[in-house]
Amino acid sequence: MSGFELVGKLLDPVSRADPYPLYAEFRARGPVWVEEMSTLVVTGYRDCETLLRDPRLSAERWRFFQDDQAADPYPPDAPPSVRRPWFLSLDPPDHTRLRRLVSSAFTARAVARMEAPVARLVDDLLDRASGRDTFDLLPGLAGTLPVTVICRMLGVPQADERLFHHWSARLTRLLDGFSAPDDGNGETPEWVSGTVELHRYVNELVADRRRSPRRDDLISELLAAQDGGDVLSHDELVSTIVLLLVAGHETTVNLIANGVLALLRHPGQLAALRADPGTAAAVVEETLRYDPPVQLTARVADRDLLVGKAKVPAGGLVILLLAAAQRDPAANPDPDRFDPGREQVRHLGFGFGPHFCLGAPLARLEGRLALAAFARRVREPRLVADPPPYREHINLRGVGELLISHAGITR
Ligand code: HEM
Repeated sequence: MSGFELVGKLLDPVSRADPYPLYAEFRARGPVWVEEMSTLVVTGYRDCETLLRDPRLSAERWRFFQDDQAADPYPPDAPPSVRRPWFLSLDPPDHTRLRRLVSSAFTARAVARMEAPVARLVDDLLDRASGRDTFDLLPGLAGTLPVTVICRMLGVPQADERLFHHWSARLTRLLDGFSAPDDGNGETPEWVSGTVELHRYVNELVADRRRSPRRDDLISELLAAQDGGDVLSHDELVSTIVLLLVAGHETTVNLIANGVLALLRHPGQLAALRADPGTAAAVVEETLRYDPPVQLTARVADRDLLVGKAKVPAGGLVILLLAAAQRDPAANPDPDRFDPGREQVRHLGFGFGPHFCLGAPLARLEGRLALAAFARRVREPRLVADPPPYREHINLRGVGELLISHAGITR
């Protein structure tokens, strides 16, 4: 099969439930150059790790797709922040500057403060699910927790949280980058209208906080953030808040859902977690390796490169298939086994190098608390359908529904 045909199989929704045999086919060939798409697909662990740190690769991936997106999808009256690239897709010096300003507010201390509120939210959600003998983990826990947590951290009024639930579900497209094209029926796609609505809302929220700052929310901290006299401009701040929401939502939803799915398929591991909730952090790390929420990331070659034997011309796209790399036997022995007890877990689930996930401590906290509470409280859980249905997304690959039958949810 040619590299082009392999990519075709990757894009095919039939591969979504279990893409891992396909990833192994890619890996067996080393880096695969797909001439028709001007794209290199990299699947080896060492290659991915090295390339994620390589300054010859740019994170400004929109440059590769620019020709396709010549038509600006946003209406003329959209707020200017909507057209500002977020720092996930910027290179130094802009990336360094923005990331530094945000890191000063998004600290481990700020995340540690969230431990008790997140534990309470997890318990409330499971309480609500306890009346029924079957529940869908997505609305029931995994799909609701991350957006509620980020709203509480940002200081979004609770009455408005439902708006964020609505938007975040529509905005995955902004991050996925590999979703099916719009159906071209002439109507504004939902992700475009959702993005504009979210930007309008956040613009107002920031203006409001500027008028009356608070002491205990992330927006006020971001407004106050300074680095040697440098501050975030209004549009930079809005675009960063939208990034925190979008980057932190679907990813964490998938972490919790993929973790629960792996545990239900490995009842011995579920029993071990129930017996010792202290192992939840190890279950999170193994889930990030075995079935990661972000399957791949991409960069654009700044100049001609040689990766293994593959030549990449300047401007070519480099896809780093993280989910394949983590099952590289050279990095993790017996990689197809889900084993939270393994001696060392090597993964790139949060990326690597300068763009390493800023929200990793928060995602780990939410994952740990959600998985431990699920194991402790849900009695005799079973999957109603295996495999469950998957959504179309290739990069933020995840289930669309995870129906679980059980014998009761205890307090
Ligand atoms: C399990 C959940 C999560 C996973 C698997 C994940 C994964 C990733 C990955 C792979 C990257 C690097 C992308 C690249 O190099 O191109 C990244 C970057 C980022 N993530 Fe996460 N993420 C998660 C949760 C979060 C949360 C909760 C937040 C914040 C609320 C967040 C905020 C960010 C930001 C701001 C970046 C950009 C960092 C930069 O460009 O310097 N993420 N994430």
